[in-house]
Amino acid sequence: MCGIVAAVADGNIVPLLIEGLTRLEYRGYDSAGLALRDDTSGKLTRFRSIGRVADLAEQSKNHTATSSIAHTRWATHGAPSERNAHPHMSGGIAVVHNGIIENYVALREMLRAQGYVFSSDTDTEVIVHLIVHLAKTTPDLFTAVAQTCKQLEGIYAIAVIREGDNCVVVSRHGAPLLLGLGEHGNYAASDASALLSVTRKIVYLEEGDVAEISLAGIRAVDAGDTPLKIGIDRPIHISTLSAAEVEKGDYAHFMQKEIFEQPEVLAATLEMIGGAQSLSPNIFGASAPEVFADVNAVLILACGTSFHSGLVARYWIEQLAGIPCTVEIASEYRYRVSVPNPRQLVVAISQSGETADTLASIKFAKSLGMGKTLALCNAPESAIVRECALRFLTRAGKEIGVASTKAFTTQLAALFLLAITLGKIGGRVSAKDEAEYLKDLRHLPLAVQKVLALEPAIKIWAQRFADKHHALFLGRGLHYPIALEGALKLKEISYIHAEGYPAGELKHGPLALVDENMPVISIAPNDALLSKLKSNLEEVASRSGELYVFADADSAIIESARVHVLRLPEHYGLLSPVLHVVALQLFSYHVALVKGTDIDKPRNLAKSVTVE
Ligand code: F6R
Repeated sequence: MCGIVAAVADGNIVPLLIEGLTRLEYRGYDSAGLALRDDTSGKLTRFRSIGRVADLAEQSKNHTATSSIAHTRWATHGAPSERNAHPHMSGGIAVVHNGIIENYVALREMLRAQGYVFSSDTDTEVIVHLIVHLAKTTPDLFTAVAQTCKQLEGIYAIAVIREGDNCVVVSRHGAPLLLGLGEHGNYAASDASALLSVTRKIVYLEEGDVAEISLAGIRAVDAGDTPLKIGIDRPIHISTLSAAEVEKGDYAHFMQKEIFEQPEVLAATLEMIGGAQSLSPNIFGASAPEVFADVNAVLILACGTSFHSGLVARYWIEQLAGIPCTVEIASEYRYRVSVPNPRQLVVAISQSGETADTLASIKFAKSLGMGKTLALCNAPESAIVRECALRFLTRAGKEIGVASTKAFTTQLAALFLLAITLGKIGGRVSAKDEAEYLKDLRHLPLAVQKVLALEPAIKIWAQRFADKHHALFLGRGLHYPIALEGALKLKEISYIHAEGYPAGELKHGPLALVDENMPVISIAPNDALLSKLKSNLEEVASRSGELYVFADADSAIIESARVHVLRLPEHYGLLSPVLHVVALQLFSYHVALVKGTDIDKPRNLAKSVTVE
């Protein structure tokens, strides 16, 4: 989604802004821009590009400035084009914006009636004209921005600059924005990684805060206009993000790096279990023992890949804890009439912690009286974590490839811990079983490492696959969600149309698609459903379908001209989905590599979906 970087410093900040935007590229964007304030004349110069940030760097390379705002845009209102790219300017003021202004039509009509002329199709442009309008009767830019924000409905993070003023004013509501306190200046960005080269001292703004950044420091008020003391009302955090986390190293793509990081990040996420034979519910928060003791059902809310980890968890939770578990797509749940259950544990799963629908669905569940909320998240200070009573932080580290990989497997590890914990509290997981499950979890990084060693064989499959236009992914039981995830990975980075199905559903419809041009990828672990799955695979083979089977070493599936089998090193019981998904991630990655797509930044997609 969109990204913001803003700075006021004692030296030229143009290279920093370009570097910051480059670090935000992973979020996904289709145009970029910046507004520089000339130190001598005080005038603003704007550069915009529908190409990559590198084009913007080229355009602005001979310019210097000590205060400026910059943006990457992911189009919502108005096509990706230079005229719709930010910053938007009016009357010597420039604005960049992340989010969506829902009342922009009414504001635009009001401003048009006042004589303001609109030159873009965006919702954002109303913000800049409104600031200009209100600045006519307010003492300074800060007040004009604060007044403007009170009229905005929807989601926003904004940064504003004005000719002649040596400051940048920022505000946020619903979209993330943080301040950076540096030795040579002060900064703002939508993501701490953008500021990594100048500061690790980060201040997270809260809903409705307005802040003015200048060389002299930060002036800020909250949504009710009460002055804020930075460091007291809004604490300073020291970011632990490392430069290596945001660089590819020897890997060709972030996605490949992130796939190969999985043994390490799984070990980090599971670090707290150490050599323990038993888990404490406190790993989910201090009040977890009390909250969990009263839970009679689980509702998981998430989107995309995180939704798929929730689907796997449903099998685990119902099997180990014996309590009903529902998994819902957050964007559906938030708008439907459902039956609230105040004793239900509501679990929000999110890599970014920013996903607008997931955040709204948790707020919605709370509004229905469901206060037992747990965030399972990879971003410690994110909105979703702050919204929930309990939290478990996965330790996947920064995930930059748009296609989620290591965040997914660490979510699975965390959800397995949750299932064991609920099972133990409910008296269904014995001490002996618990110790066994913990032992399996400790071995998981090594088991994943062995799957990664299959990369050469997976590459050969990928070569054969790259000219395909469609694919079906089949799985049963615990591996049905892995079939969905495998299909999602393939379509998002290789643009091959793929569908995931529970194998038992084949003859209820999708079998009609099977012919020699419709490859079928099947996940075939050696579990209780293997014989059923083999019958489903026969149905494909007997209709000239070509099968690509990810089997376990001992799955006893026979290879033939149209049945290709790749054997994973070991069968891993309940944790088998974690191994099988790694093989599918590698498969999608290599298919996309052969096809030559933009793997880390697939077309039309964004890393953090901060709008509906
Ligand atoms: C797919 C992918 C998305 C995200 C989804 C939710 O590879 O990454 O489907 O899983 O947008 O994002 P988070 O987990 O940040 O809430």
